[in-house]
Amino acid sequence: MNGSSARTQWASRLGFILAAAGSAIGLGNIWKFPYITGQNGGGAFVLVYLLCILLVGLPIMMAELHIGRHGQRDAVGCFAVLEGKPTRWRFIGWLGVSSSFLLLSFYAVVAGWSFDYVVQAASGAFQARSAEEINAVFAQLVSSPGQVVFWQGSFLVATAGIVLGGVRGGIERWSKILMPLLFLLLLLLFFRGMLSPGAKAGLEFMFRPDFSKLTPAALLDALGHAFFTLSLGAGTMITYGSYLDRQADLLSLSVRITLLDIMVALLAGLAIFPVVFAAGLEPGSGPGLVFQTIPIVFSAMPFGSVLAVLFFLLLSFAAMSSSISMLEVSVSYLVDEKGWRRGLATMVLGLAAFVIGLPSALSFNLLADVTPFFGQTFFDFANALVSSYLLPLGGFSVAVYAGWFWKGERLQDELSGGKIRPWLYPLWHFLVKYVAPAAVAVVLLNQMGWFTP
Ligand code: TRP
Repeated sequence: MNGSSARTQWASRLGFILAAAGSAIGLGNIWKFPYITGQNGGGAFVLVYLLCILLVGLPIMMAELHIGRHGQRDAVGCFAVLEGKPTRWRFIGWLGVSSSFLLLSFYAVVAGWSFDYVVQAASGAFQARSAEEINAVFAQLVSSPGQVVFWQGSFLVATAGIVLGGVRGGIERWSKILMPLLFLLLLLLFFRGMLSPGAKAGLEFMFRPDFSKLTPAALLDALGHAFFTLSLGAGTMITYGSYLDRQADLLSLSVRITLLDIMVALLAGLAIFPVVFAAGLEPGSGPGLVFQTIPIVFSAMPFGSVLAVLFFLLLSFAAMSSSISMLEVSVSYLVDEKGWRRGLATMVLGLAAFVIGLPSALSFNLLADVTPFFGQTFFDFANALVSSYLLPLGGFSVAVYAGWFWKGERLQDELSGGKIRPWLYPLWHFLVKYVAPAAVAVVLLNQMGWFTP
């Protein structure tokens, strides 16, 4: 976990997959994917999101891991190593450090809601309740500044605590146990959803594309979310890749992480939308969606309270294994580039994320009417700025660098960790050189109104 000579590596290949999948799988899959799918009208959005992941996300993930492994440094330092001297390319690293830090600030707010729900579920708040009563629980929570800030802070303390333990001890150990458990619980919810009266409407909503719903903003949401859900464009996979050894097969690692990530998101959607339709809720109701729907399922189940506690515990853990990776980007920057001690860097950055996140935490209560940024609250603005602009910009820059500027014929074999796959390099290179940058550019320009007269 330290720079230079004795850089820590992942204890095992499985450990890496779990940690990287742990970074990728988080609130993005279970909280954000369903609610933006709801806001963007379902099927067609899901299709574009899947395309963005496969054609843009996957190749960029390989590029980021590749850059990190080659550089064996933090996200900024990697570019200096690759270029042989500190050049302007380091801006990609700085952009990543800033984006992942800003992301952490509001991510902790939502993760805090999940913490709160663990306690609420344990005290029986969701037992035998109607959909309205469960809605009210969410409304009450977000409108209480003290409660929200308390949990946001608790979440950051927990995250910083794990990062203090270092890469191996902290991140890998827990992922191995808790991620599979989360998966099982989602499966249970999925089957439950499929047996409910909303199953058909839910399936149709998610998988029957209606292309008239694809606005420029929906395209940008889908592209931005492809970066968000795979933890791309913010230095995270560069940093995690820097702890990988030279023999690692980047293709199969990236494919596995991506598939796991997609599965969890689809399962979450398939667990949530049947409830939305069965209970007559609004699919486009926004960031509260998972908190307003999942408790409904548990409220009518045997052992519902226990399962609800478990669900929100695991969701909190999934959020934590993601937030750890966000914090790790800036911590490793300060440690590797500025010579800070790891402990100090972690505490200072954790505290700073808390303070910067306060306006986001208060966006649903005290500051609900303060909308200085294009009529948006702090929370909405930070969320949109990171997902729709900073991450795509970061991913675009990585693609342009890896596709056009990185001088290295040696890259050929490194992608496959020695396996013979003659098609891989040309295909990957084509995708990062042309497809990914073009897709980001077109979607951004389209959003800015360039293609509409
Ligand atoms: N991928 C995570 C999720 O879906 C969030 C995340 C972690 C992230 N690290 C990131 C997103 C870096 C963008 C960049 O919840």
